[in-house]
Amino acid sequence: MTPIILDCDPGHDDAIAIMLAAGDPAVDLLAITTVAGNQTLDKTTLNALRVCTLAGIHDVPVAAGCPRPLTQPLQVAEDVHGESGLDGPRFGEPTVRVSGEHAVDLVHRILQEHPEPVTLVPTGPLTNIALLLTRYPENAPRIREIVLMGGSTERGNVSPYAEFNIFVDPEAAAIVFGSGVQVTMCGLNVTHQALVTPDVVARLEALGGAIGPVCVELMTFFASAYRKVFGFEAPPLHDPVAVARVIDPSLVECVDAHVAIEVVGRFTRGATVVDLGGVPNAKVAVGLDVPRFWDRLVAALANVAAP
Ligand code: BDR
Ligand code: CA
Repeated sequence: MTPIILDCDPGHDDAIAIMLAAGDPAVDLLAITTVAGNQTLDKTTLNALRVCTLAGIHDVPVAAGCPRPLTQPLQVAEDVHGESGLDGPRFGEPTVRVSGEHAVDLVHRILQEHPEPVTLVPTGPLTNIALLLTRYPENAPRIREIVLMGGSTERGNVSPYAEFNIFVDPEAAAIVFGSGVQVTMCGLNVTHQALVTPDVVARLEALGGAIGPVCVELMTFFASAYRKVFGFEAPPLHDPVAVARVIDPSLVECVDAHVAIEVVGRFTRGATVVDLGGVPNAKVAVGLDVPRFWDRLVAALANVAAP
């Protein structure tokens, strides 16, 4: 079992990533931390608690982290995730409570205490991770790997070259990619293959219980937003791809590359400049085994749904 900490901004695809990480037997989910991104920090944290309550995840600490990017004002993705950040289903009052510890302090403590190095899986802006690396540099050897959803080898989704998670906090991304810790980037070039087709929705519906209908409502809202904003026929489920890479590396093919973060460009700020010929500082995802990805995801959700 690979010990992981999921740092997220739920977010429809983050919500499914939480359930994948909780339900798959290959990973040991040590903590869930939240960051401002898809919505403000109070909303992303509430949404993490809602998902944990829904999925019966009671034994994993949830801690809130940074309320804004390192240097620039927060830009949220309300057009894609709605006013709550998790629009679609109606959630009751969560019974899972947030930890009193700041996310960065919780992650630091876990890294120090856990008997083996831990993999960090960020699926939102990299603010918390950058703060962790700068405030507690002694943690670096305790981090086995950072496997993130963000960036792209091709086009972006908030500007021609920038993907949302990197665009929201490019300075944080630059710190993470320059840290010397092993980084794996799962970008839009692969996550755009994880499309929630009608067949996938039918499999989610078949899960039944409390989870099946909520997953369908989440994906229905997400699909209509993706149709409106991007003209996609089916929405891409970005964040679970990073979790899947940790669960079974053969699901997500990667190559070594140098990734530079554009922090200056007038038109390209937040771009991930991937140089396949440069001195590698990262692994970059280039392929996804789509059928096996969905099989693994649905199996994990079925585990979570089981009483
Ligand atoms: C990323 O941005 C967010 O809207 C999603 O949750 C995902 O992490 C995709 O660009
Ligand atoms: Ca996310």
